[in-house]
Amino acid sequence: MPRQAYVNGRYLPHRQGAVHIEDRGFQFADGVYEVVPVRERILIDEEPHLDRLERSLRELRIAMPVQRATLKLIARELIRRNDLSNGLVYMQITRGSAPREHAFPAHVSPTLVMTTRQLKPHREALLRDGVAVITVPDIRWRRCDIKSIGLLPNVLVKQAAAEAGAYEAWQVDDQGRVTEGSSTNAWIVTEDGTAVTRDASQAILNGITRLSLLKVIRAAGYGFAERPFTVAEAKAAREAFITSSTSYVMPVTRIDGVPVGDGRPGALTMALRQQYVDYMAGCAAAERGAAATGSAETGVGA
Ligand code: PDD
Repeated sequence: MPRQAYVNGRYLPHRQGAVHIEDRGFQFADGVYEVVPVRERILIDEEPHLDRLERSLRELRIAMPVQRATLKLIARELIRRNDLSNGLVYMQITRGSAPREHAFPAHVSPTLVMTTRQLKPHREALLRDGVAVITVPDIRWRRCDIKSIGLLPNVLVKQAAAEAGAYEAWQVDDQGRVTEGSSTNAWIVTEDGTAVTRDASQAILNGITRLSLLKVIRAAGYGFAERPFTVAEAKAAREAFITSSTSYVMPVTRIDGVPVGDGRPGALTMALRQQYVDYMAGCAAAERGAAATGSAETGVGA
């Protein structure tokens, strides 16, 4: 069966999924999105992802197109229809389609699109050697906490990374401090073993992987700090890594060509990666257990 997509109330073959030419997402990037990881057919950290989605919508005064319980049902139905084991569910909501005027249209209903994507396990080489990042000026707007579909600066810097043979671009504010990657949060490990990532503010997207990893770190008793760090501090750090729903915890071993630490993936980084993978397996097992005992919250209107 061909892969299916969900578009405004209908499941369609992925290739036939389409929205109106005057959709405000298409014309103004007037919309938001979420990427929810799927492991063993289970949505990981679904609630925090949906909390962030609802927050992004509220900040932009876009209505929820359907109830939250319905979003959950659609995501599960797509996972089922697409036989998705490991990968992601992509959700996009725009303000809707209307004749092109910048100000909000008086009568408009939001557009909802959902797709899935199967992802292969991360390549061995990435975990064995770590990845390279470059640093670039952060030229984005001042509301990076909103998961907006307006991603042109992120696209441009990811392309610059690709052209430099790097995996990611770390964006840097005008005080020389790293904000985040184009689609990941940035971390370092200091000489005394403290895991450092920038504090959540309007300067970064508060990653759900970032938040879950902070929980893992707290539970394991590792030292951590949420504060900005400079590019110079990162280059002199013992370890570095990035987090996201698709990269999980990925070791960074070069920054602008400079080896981080001994140039190999760090011990704490790899321990955290393992603990994060275990955390996801635990989430999947808990959800399956809840479903088996009939306590899973899946019904519309529940
Ligand atoms: N990107 N920062 C930015 C700018 C991001 O776009 C993302 C996610 C993150 C990490 O957030 P999370 O841990 O919730 O995935 C940080 C997604 C994966 C994307 O755009 O594909």
